[in-house]
Amino acid sequence: MVLIDGKKVASEIRNELKLQVDSLKNDGKPVPGLVAILVGNNPASKVYVNSKAKACDEIGFKSAVEILDENIAQPDLIELIKSYNQNKDYHGILVQLPLPKHINESEIINSISPLKDVDGFHPISVGNLVIGNDTFAPCTPAGIQELLKRYNIETKGKHVVVVGRSNIVGKPIANILLQKKENANSIVTICHSAADIAHYTRQADILIAAIGVPNFIKKEMIKPDVVVIDVGINRVEDKNISKGYRIVGDVDYDSVAPLASYITPVPGGVGPMTIAMLLKNTLKAYNNLR
Ligand code: GUN
Repeated sequence: MVLIDGKKVASEIRNELKLQVDSLKNDGKPVPGLVAILVGNNPASKVYVNSKAKACDEIGFKSAVEILDENIAQPDLIELIKSYNQNKDYHGILVQLPLPKHINESEIINSISPLKDVDGFHPISVGNLVIGNDTFAPCTPAGIQELLKRYNIETKGKHVVVVGRSNIVGKPIANILLQKKENANSIVTICHSAADIAHYTRQADILIAAIGVPNFIKKEMIKPDVVVIDVGINRVEDKNISKGYRIVGDVDYDSVAPLASYITPVPGGVGPMTIAMLLKNTLKAYNNLR
């Protein structure tokens, strides 16, 4: 069994990006900029947003974090986004999800300029992804594809079974790996909680778990030598740890790992790749806008 080290790959990507930023600076050019907008005080979201800003700083990107009151009116949020749509210093705009209930997520995403949609959530980006046009792919799925590529894991003709149908992971990873392109060209099945899915997961050559249920995928649900990609980041109570919780994936790692050919750990697998790909998308937005 090979452990897929997302932390290491993400660090390699950040180093590659830093070299490109250094070269821009040497040429006296402006650097790429990313703004992360967070509404409210969700502790996990705060951690993500701050890590995104820190990652920008480390490679020499400009970054801003806007933390807005939980009760902000939707038109005020849209006005802020529109000001960043016009702002020449920021090439990527990210609105951290989920948003408070009084805010319409779809209307917020629609207000982000597709040219700055580094999360790849705007319907124009989604449409381009489905068609196979060059676009911003959502960061977590893009990170999964990059991991498969860098570990030389064949995707062409392989049966990829995706568990979960979210707009952030399940649907986009299915569309990415379905494309008739390099590092894709897979046979793709998407399954979800509306049925007993073991019948499907057992057929996977590559199993991608993105359902947000701790330890959901058990050893009875896989075939030997499967490649397991665990996208779950679940907090489960653990009184033995000072924080009171630990992070586990959607895969029951202890029972599944011995049977797998490759597996991503949680943490340290897919998670670190999300931010690396966000930085990559921000550089792409910068290049497109210049
Ligand atoms: N919430 C969970 N994942 C993501 C992500 O990739 N981007 C944003 N903006 N919000 C998220």
